[in-house]
Amino acid sequence: MSDQFELDTLALRAGVHRSQFNENSEAIFLTSSFVFDNAAQAAARFSGAEAGYVYSRFSNPTVTAFQERLAALEGAEACVATASGMAAILAAVMGLLKGGDHIIASRSIFGASVQLFTNILPKFGLETTFVSATEVSEWQAAVRPNTRLLFLETPSNPLTEISDIPALSRVAKQAGAWLAVDNCFCTPILQRPLELGADIIIHSATKYPDGQGRVLGGAVLGPRELIMEGVFSFLRTAGPSLSPFNAWVILKGLETLRIRMEAHCRGALELARWLETLPQVARVYYPWLPSHPQHELARRQQKQGGGIVSFDVKGGRDAAWRMVDATRMISITANLGDVKSTITHPATTTHGRISAEARAAAGIGEGLLRVAMGLESIEDVKRDLARGLT
Ligand SMILES: Cc1ncc(COP(=O)(O)O)c(C=O)c1O
Repeated sequence: MSDQFELDTLALRAGVHRSQFNENSEAIFLTSSFVFDNAAQAAARFSGAEAGYVYSRFSNPTVTAFQERLAALEGAEACVATASGMAAILAAVMGLLKGGDHIIASRSIFGASVQLFTNILPKFGLETTFVSATEVSEWQAAVRPNTRLLFLETPSNPLTEISDIPALSRVAKQAGAWLAVDNCFCTPILQRPLELGADIIIHSATKYPDGQGRVLGGAVLGPRELIMEGVFSFLRTAGPSLSPFNAWVILKGLETLRIRMEAHCRGALELARWLETLPQVARVYYPWLPSHPQHELARRQQKQGGGIVSFDVKGGRDAAWRMVDATRMISITANLGDVKSTITHPATTTHGRISAEARAAAGIGEGLLRVAMGLESIEDVKRDLARGLT
């Protein structure tokens, strides 16, 4: 279907398999298991000799619909849905790597991802070297004979650093490793990593794909063989699967993803420009500002700047917390990608559990705030933030 229709159409029409009732809006198949006509069919389904649904840990029509729709939007051959974004990263790593393999990861990634690579994966013999998100030479220098995975987010959370996907894809190919890109901040509406040379895409569907802050979900996408033999085989047995209900919520969220992303981007750009004019703000991080260090690269890789704006408030933690506490409308919460604007202090929330050294190395200071621009009036968002500046 992906070669016949534009993105807008795929967001609504990909993954549609109508039931015997011919419903227009996709049905939710809330069932743990599927019934067989007889014992021989059960055996054939379990062995894979006959195609068909078996058990919702690894096969469910609503989850399939979500997987097909997201795959169509990303231009990927295959997609495996997971219980959360973190489950997607875990499933990719556990499904594709083995003990003794080496990972190179950007230093500028979500706090829980840092923890996964630093505290959990070493227990299974996987070692990670952290490097700069933006210095390709550091990635090259970190390559070892056993390097199997390069992992990054672009734009990164929370500083919106941009990694050069085509350049890092060349490093990965030379090393015989896969390049995985967490496409959380952009979604396929703003950036399609596979077209830029990535091998694997990670999503936290909790964020923009749901878009209204309702459910957790995740996905791993890429070439069929890699995803089905590696990631799906792990998920099928280990079970960090997406529930059919959550799959349905996110599936319907994808239908409005483009118009939401455009509105998030419009608001975020205006917010970033306004913040840059304020004397109380030391620095604004937003890829569509000419002052952003990777502005040109962002314009090559992305269609727009995204919905996340981070900024350093003069006066450190006290000033940043004052600004958070003075808001009356913006939600003080760590989620992002919601239609309701959110504000968070990364150093004590999303990145609070990583070491102070890792935080400093990633450039996450005590005065840093991250706003995920929602769909409220931009004037109300500005007014709400301005309260804490006076
Ligand atoms: C960039 C990024 N990747 C992954 C995740 C993890 O997603 P989830 O919370 O769905 O596990 C997050 C969550 O905030 C994130 O911001």
